Amino acid sequence: MQTKILSTTDDDKIVTTLAEQGYVVIDDYLPAHTIFALAEVARTKLCNQEMAHARTGKQAETRQHIRGDHICWLDENSPDIAIQQYFVHMQHLKQLLNQQLFIGLASLETHLAIYPVGAVYQKHLDQFNAGGSTQLNTRKISSILYLNQDWQPKHGGELRLHLDNEEWIDILPIGGRLVLFLSADFWHEVLPAHRERLSLTGWFRTREPQLL
Ligand code: OGA
Ligand code: MN
Repeated sequence: MQTKILSTTDDDKIVTTLAEQGYVVIDDYLPAHTIFALAEVARTKLCNQEMAHARTGKQAETRQHIRGDHICWLDENSPDIAIQQYFVHMQHLKQLLNQQLFIGLASLETHLAIYPVGAVYQKHLDQFNAGGSTQLNTRKISSILYLNQDWQPKHGGELRLHLDNEEWIDILPIGGRLVLFLSADFWHEVLPAHRERLSLTGWFRTREPQLL
C-alpha cells in the first residue's frame, strides 16, 4: 500500500491527516544540519557507552531477539543545541495537536535509538491496555524521527505500520522524516537493516491514563 508523504510546511495538513487516518509521515521535519548533529549525538553516546540495551520486560536471552536496539533517554534540559532544537520543534507540535485536536498532551518522553545491522523490534504496541502500567497508558501519540543520511530502499530497516490484520505500510527510515501515529491503535515493527539505523523516538503523553 502506498503512503502519501507530506512536507513540513503545512501544519494544518499534518493535523488533519493524523486525525483522518491515525498516522502521518512528514519529510524534512527538521533541517538537515540538525538531523546530522542529532546523529552525531547518538554515535557519541554509543562510543561513550551511554546507550543501554533496550528493555522489554522479558528474560535477558529473549530480549535482544525481540528488540535489538540500544537507547538513551533524553532530557529537555540538555545543553546540546541540536537536542534543544528537537524539543523546540516537538513543543510546537504538541501545541498544534492540543489546539486542533483537544487531546490534552502534557509531556514528551524521548530516547535516541541505535539499531546495529540486522537488529529488529518485533511487532508491538506502544501502549498496553490490558491491565498494563499506568505510565504506558498515558502514551497517546508515538513520534519517530529518523537520523540516517542517504538511506536507500536497499538498506531495509523499514518501520512496518500495521493498518489492520492484512494491510500494512512500510516506511523507510530516511533522515529528517517524522512519523506520527496513535500509540494505542497501531501495531508496528522494525525490520532488519543492512546499515546501522538511527532514530529518535518520542511519546506525547497525557497527564492521566485514558480509557481506551
Ligand atoms: C519504538 C519503535 C520504531 C522505529 O521505539 O517503540 O517502534 O521505526 N520504533 O524506530
Ligand atoms: Mn514502538
